[in-house]
Amino acid sequence: MAFILPTLGLLIAVLAPIVLVRADASTSPIVVQNKDPLIYYHGRWDDSPGTWWAGSGFKIHVENLSSMTLNLGPHTTSLLASIGVSLNYGDFTTVNVSEGSNTLPLQSLQSDSEENTTGKNVIRINTEGWQDNRINLENITLNSGAKVLPYKPSRLAFQFIGDSLSAGQYLPKGVDQAWPFLVSESFKAEHVVVAQPGAALTDIVSYGNVHGVSYQFFKTEDTGFYYTTDHNYTTPWDFKKDVPAATHVVSHIGANDASQNITANAFVDTYLDFLARLRTVYVHQPIFVFTPWGWPQPTGPNSFYYNGSYTEIVNERHAVGDKDVFLVNTTGWVSYEDVFPDNIHPTVEGHQKIAGLFEKWLEGWGLQPEKEWATPA
Ligand SMILES: *[C@@H]1O[C@H](CO)[C@@H](O)[C@H](O)[C@H]1NC(C)=O
Ligand SMILES: *[C@@H]1O[C@H](CO)[C@@H](O)[C@H](O)[C@H]1NC(C)=O
Ligand SMILES: *[C@@H]1O[C@H](CO)[C@@H](O)[C@H](O)[C@H]1NC(C)=O
Ligand SMILES: *[C@@H]1O[C@H](CO)[C@@H](O)[C@H](O)[C@H]1NC(C)=O
Ligand SMILES: *[C@@H]1O[C@H](CO)[C@@H](O)[C@H](O)[C@H]1NC(C)=O
Ligand SMILES: *[C@@H]1O[C@H](CO)[C@@H](O)[C@H](O)[C@H]1NC(C)=O
Ligand SMILES: *[C@@H]1O[C@H](CO)[C@@H](O)[C@H](O)[C@H]1NC(C)=O
Ligand SMILES: *[C@@H]1O[C@H](CO)[C@@H](O)[C@H](O)[C@H]1NC(C)=O
Repeated sequence: MAFILPTLGLLIAVLAPIVLVRADASTSPIVVQNKDPLIYYHGRWDDSPGTWWAGSGFKIHVENLSSMTLNLGPHTTSLLASIGVSLNYGDFTTVNVSEGSNTLPLQSLQSDSEENTTGKNVIRINTEGWQDNRINLENITLNSGAKVLPYKPSRLAFQFIGDSLSAGQYLPKGVDQAWPFLVSESFKAEHVVVAQPGAALTDIVSYGNVHGVSYQFFKTEDTGFYYTTDHNYTTPWDFKKDVPAATHVVSHIGANDASQNITANAFVDTYLDFLARLRTVYVHQPIFVFTPWGWPQPTGPNSFYYNGSYTEIVNERHAVGDKDVFLVNTTGWVSYEDVFPDNIHPTVEGHQKIAGLFEKWLEGWGLQPEKEWATPA
């Protein structure tokens, strides 16, 4: 007996640490810190890190995923921010998140997702709203046994520039249902949407925006910064953070300049200055300049603005040797049945129609959608 007891004691002493290590590994959650390079951020994030502008978010590729919790900090919109969440390239589902811990309903996203057979999952998350769109990511908790893999971005990347007509104002899922987002999904592309409802291109106060897009585009923050108490300032956007750099730039703007009675001549000058400045960032990328589709009326033709100005802008660029600026003539793309009667902005179906028309236009121009996402799920 005296011989056996110490042996048992020794066995227990040797086994215990092993058992403990095993128990630890299989029960403790995996925490991914916000600085982890495996998180693929897109859109405009400040240093907290927190989002600005509709559509900013992140993607993460995880093997053996069964649960995911976003732990959000104090710079998150109070009381909540609406985010779209997509599992394995399925539809985006709205989830409302707040400061603190937010467990995502992954299992209920299963039905919308492509098959989960590889055991590798791609989760895509972005803010939906043009306001109340701030999420301050502190860390992400995953189930034990989950393994974060690199996310490889698409080699196609769109940069959209615009106002309410691009930001998805009045849509139930905001920018996630807007034509820029839909076009990017269809091309299996990365995208950034810098679009501010009510804002003019001209740097003037317009419908609550303290600056125009020709100013705000170069900032991290959207014009909502002015209405916050915790971040009432702007910081320059570091375009090197856009990875990959945009391969195609799309600009659809001018509606609010027209509403603010900016003359056609002044608008053309502002647009030309803006394009010249964009060229310092996007040196050789094609830039697509949309003409307005106009404001549809219950009867009669759409009400247009700056007729001829967009042609003039594109021609001026060509005249200075910049052939990579293209006019996208959207006349006839949107009619009264495509808009909400009370605000004349495109409906969900209206945005789908615009997206379809621009996709066709891009294919005619020479851009083909990617066949597969660069990171398969
Ligand atoms: C994927 O399938 C596995 C096995 O059926 C399951 O355990 C896991 O929860 C699924 N992943 C997600 C994200 O639903
Ligand atoms: C994750 O972030 C939350 C705050 O959102 C914090 O309380 C928690 O300590 C963090 N976890 C780790 C492991 O850093
Ligand atoms: C999110 O919050 C908004 C605003 O309170 C609400 O209208 C919407 O129904 C919520 N959506 C979900 C999916 O909880
Ligand atoms: C997947 O995670 C579970 C715990 O959630 C773990 O028991 C299992 O061993 C893991 N599988 C792999 C292949 O890593
Ligand atoms: C933000 O700062 C400006 C002055 O620069 C001030 O007029 C405005 O009221 C501030 N916003 C808030 C919400 O305090
Ligand atoms: C623009 O001009 C129209 C017509 O002259 C006028 O009714 C409107 O008030 C003006 N709008 C602004 C913002 O100055
Ligand atoms: C725009 O102006 C041209 C002539 O400069 C005219 O032919 C055309 O009908 C106008 N279009 C609209 C939508 O007003
Ligand atoms: C745009 O398309 C409309 C309708 O097809 C046409 O009338 C107009 O001339 C076009 N404008 C330009 C600048 O090409």
